[in-house]
Amino acid sequence: MNNPVELAKDGESPVDTPESTRASVAVDAEQAAGARAALTALRAEVAKTVVGQDSVVTGLVIALLCRGHVLLEGVPGTAKTLMIRTLSQALDLDFKRVQFTPDLMPGDVTGSLIYDNRTAEFEFREGPVFTNLLLADEINRTPPKTQASLLEAMEERQVSVEGTGRPLPDPFVVCATQNPIEYEGTYPLPEAQLDRFLLKLTVPVPSRDDEISMLQRHAAGFDPRDLSEVTAVAGAAELAAGRAAVRGVHLDPKVAAYVVDICRATRQSPSLQLGVSPRGATALLATSRAWAWLSGRDYVTPDDVKALARPTLRHRTQLRPEAELEGATADGVLEGILAHVPAPR
Ligand SMILES: Nc1ncnc2c1ncn2[C@@H]1O[C@H](COP(=O)(O)OP(=O)(O)OP(=O)(O)O)[C@@H](O)[C@H]1O
Ligand SMILES: [Mg+2]
Repeated sequence: MNNPVELAKDGESPVDTPESTRASVAVDAEQAAGARAALTALRAEVAKTVVGQDSVVTGLVIALLCRGHVLLEGVPGTAKTLMIRTLSQALDLDFKRVQFTPDLMPGDVTGSLIYDNRTAEFEFREGPVFTNLLLADEINRTPPKTQASLLEAMEERQVSVEGTGRPLPDPFVVCATQNPIEYEGTYPLPEAQLDRFLLKLTVPVPSRDDEISMLQRHAAGFDPRDLSEVTAVAGAAELAAGRAAVRGVHLDPKVAAYVVDICRATRQSPSLQLGVSPRGATALLATSRAWAWLSGRDYVTPDDVKALARPTLRHRTQLRPEAELEGATADGVLEGILAHVPAPR
């Protein structure tokens, strides 16, 4: 059984929007339905190039709706790059990719001041963060200073150079990849930084059938460099309408309590040395709400919370070394918690 969003931060959650602003951003029902249809069509559009991986694409759409960033974990060659490139084209968004290496400098990411000989002045040359969808490949291969420059841009949605803040485009979503196998020569992201990612999505190796149909496409002449068949089925307008509609999704106090109970249970779990922070709880609410809306509802159900709990919380917990040695995983612990915490009816 496939979880519809066996997917994968947060920041400003749409949670705490005061009633007054809620009214001013309200979209009419027709606009909202159109946005939902367009954003749902994205999945089919991405499927033109990437076989399977629907749940990862859904996770990316949820991140875009929540203005959150994503950690993508998967072994090499599982179409992570192809998926983000296709998604940016299907959304008519600007896309850039940065390969993080040990010698990458902060300015290589954010941009730097360049001296112009002709004008005898310094000019700012924008770095690759000035884009809508940034694929930050192998973020754990670069030293903390360069990681920090990206994380700062993610959090503040601007780059400050010599005291001047330069706003990043909107949307601005970072998809950072980490290779789960190699740890040598890497600088793992500190726990406090992981909490800044809305979702952690695992990109699985395709099923046998999916892999066969991928080969058949290749045999029929599919060229992953050529994305001319991918059309823009949605864009920034649909994302904005979607976000406004998500803010209108109703939250029953019992469901809010359920989110909190799940997060509290992680803090008490004997297998975890670090449980989910209150920021993590707001993230789970935000992603569950976005998923409820994408599924065509204007209220959040406990099942929405369950569907998003693992991708939203898995990177916000830390296993005890003993539990890790015994083979425990964050997903396994979360699964146990979801099985035990009573869901409201
Ligand atoms: N699910 C899939 N559907 C279609 N093609 C796939 C799929 N998985 C892998 N491929 C093929 O494998 C190639 C490699 O994919 P890609 O470069 O996007 O992987 P990646 O996950 O970004 O790898 P790396 O971690 O090395 O950067 C793609 O160009 C595509 O041809
Ligand atoms: Mg890649």
